Amino acid sequence: MSEPKEGQQLTNAKTTPKSNRNADTKRKLYRETMENVRKQVRIESPTPPPPAPASESDTATPTTAGSATPDLMELPRKRFYRQRAHSNPFSDHRLDYPTSPSTMDWSTIYPATPLSEKNKKVEIADIGCGFGGLMIDLGPQFPDSLILGMEIRVQVTQYVEDRIMALRKLHEQDPVYKYDNIGVIRGNAMKFLPNFFEKSQLSKMFFCFPDPHFKQRKHKARIITNTLLSEYAYVLKEGGVIYTITDVEDLHQWMVMHLEQHPLFERLSKEWEAEDKCVEIMYNATEEGQKVERNKGSKWVACFKRLPNPEDCE
Ligand SMILES: C[S@@+](CC[C@H](N)C(=O)[O-])C[C@H]1O[C@@H](n2cnc3c(N)ncnc32)[C@H](O)[C@@H]1O
Repeated sequence: MSEPKEGQQLTNAKTTPKSNRNADTKRKLYRETMENVRKQVRIESPTPPPPAPASESDTATPTTAGSATPDLMELPRKRFYRQRAHSNPFSDHRLDYPTSPSTMDWSTIYPATPLSEKNKKVEIADIGCGFGGLMIDLGPQFPDSLILGMEIRVQVTQYVEDRIMALRKLHEQDPVYKYDNIGVIRGNAMKFLPNFFEKSQLSKMFFCFPDPHFKQRKHKARIITNTLLSEYAYVLKEGGVIYTITDVEDLHQWMVMHLEQHPLFERLSKEWEAEDKCVEIMYNATEEGQKVERNKGSKWVACFKRLPNPEDCE
């Protein structure tokens, strides 16, 4: 039997019990409604969708509990965004991507930010952002920087988009912070990064709990490789930082080895890590990191500074 494609339902009408089919229908209805809301927000931006009561916890009992009709200010429920755990980065995902960074329309992602007026560009990227926990904690710490999550899985990206939409609505009247500087796009960071970001545009790139691809023959699918590091060095500015964290020791060693071997990166010290607020956030904020914490696993951190290009040195 062929593998289901990205986003394809993992069910079969003949073999699936009725209760499961009902759950699938509910999920579908919920997702269709949310898709319409997303479209509405994009078209109407910067005006957000109509108000409704809110809850800030993912696990809180929603006002529409049991119903598949989303309440637009409610934080999204993960169970409606179920998807396969892994996505093959070498597949043809039929992704939308700009031909160059200058043709990218960021206004739908950061509708409340006057981008052209201030010549604002994304500065911080969370690569493989998963459910978006890192950005949600980084956002208020860097209110003047645009932060972008890039995620390959369709429904996970939609979950983050809906989460941000709800947070913006919830904090609409907040005089201090409104989640306007965080956004997400569906993208394959292993293929199209220079289509989104200019040379030296980014100051920080996060690689939090990347897929380990355990088997040796799968190592080429790892998100840190020599070739990809040259792309990351291209989009990172001099002095910019690559942050990595994983619970897989072998992957940690792999990432450190490749980064140490690359001429444009230099490892930052443990003292530096201890003083950097992003390391602390990265250690605690991501969903994967929290799962590791619950399972009492270990976390390995390594941070690397982008060095100047040799031609820029004396
Ligand atoms: C193990 S999860 C970690 C998620 C998140 N960083 C965290 O710590 O909770 C790895 C994530 O990377 C995403 N991913 C894998 N390869 C990717 C790629 N080439 N481009 C963008 N995202 C990717 C996966 O879909 C998945 O959501």
